[in-house]
Amino acid sequence: MKHNILILQASPRAKGNTVWMAEEYKKAAEAAGHDVTLVNVSHKKIAGCLACEYCHGKGNGACIQKDDMQELYPLMAEADVLVLAAPIYYFTLCAQIQAPIQRMYCVNAPAKVKKMALLVSSYSPGVYDGASAEFRDICNYWKAENMGVVTAKIDEQKTDETKARIEALVAKL
Ligand SMILES: Cc1cc2nc3c(=O)[nH]c(=O)nc-3n(C[C@H](O)[C@H](O)[C@H](O)COP(=O)(O)O)c2cc1C
Repeated sequence: MKHNILILQASPRAKGNTVWMAEEYKKAAEAAGHDVTLVNVSHKKIAGCLACEYCHGKGNGACIQKDDMQELYPLMAEADVLVLAAPIYYFTLCAQIQAPIQRMYCVNAPAKVKKMALLVSSYSPGVYDGASAEFRDICNYWKAENMGVVTAKIDEQKTDETKARIEALVAKL
């Protein structure tokens, strides 16, 4: 089955490992015939949710904040596979990925997403508990299959082995 895949890449480092992992996922998915949209959310202006509840009242599902999240809402609405790619900052997923996730509050869940995957970079080993737990819980909450997590600490970055793990994740689609 051909999938409509959205990758949200959240590292601000253009030549970093997270960008590399997102691009490797995209290459493998496109080679398998899927449609892939890769969005760099790291430099976008996406504020945190205001919890104003406008969306659940007068807004009828629309957020009151008209920032760069407006570009993402239609992409999130169409994707059936969502891939999050982010570095670990202070033992959890970086803020640049948290904001777009939390701004989905207005629609509760991305309408068509059925499968999700996570690509994570860090310096150290053993720093993925927070990110993995959050990712697992969001998959459950959004009723999406958790396809898995590929992590890369400093000595695993941009390696053939990590590339193979990403390709294996794509092969599960
Ligand atoms: C603000 C900040 C916080 C970080 N916190 C952690 C951390 O808690 N644990 C860790 O292993 N690495 C941490 N790092 C290192 C990054 O996760 C690591 O360099 C990663 O490879 C960055 O990915 P990138 O090259 O794709 O940006 C931190 C980096 C920054 C800038």
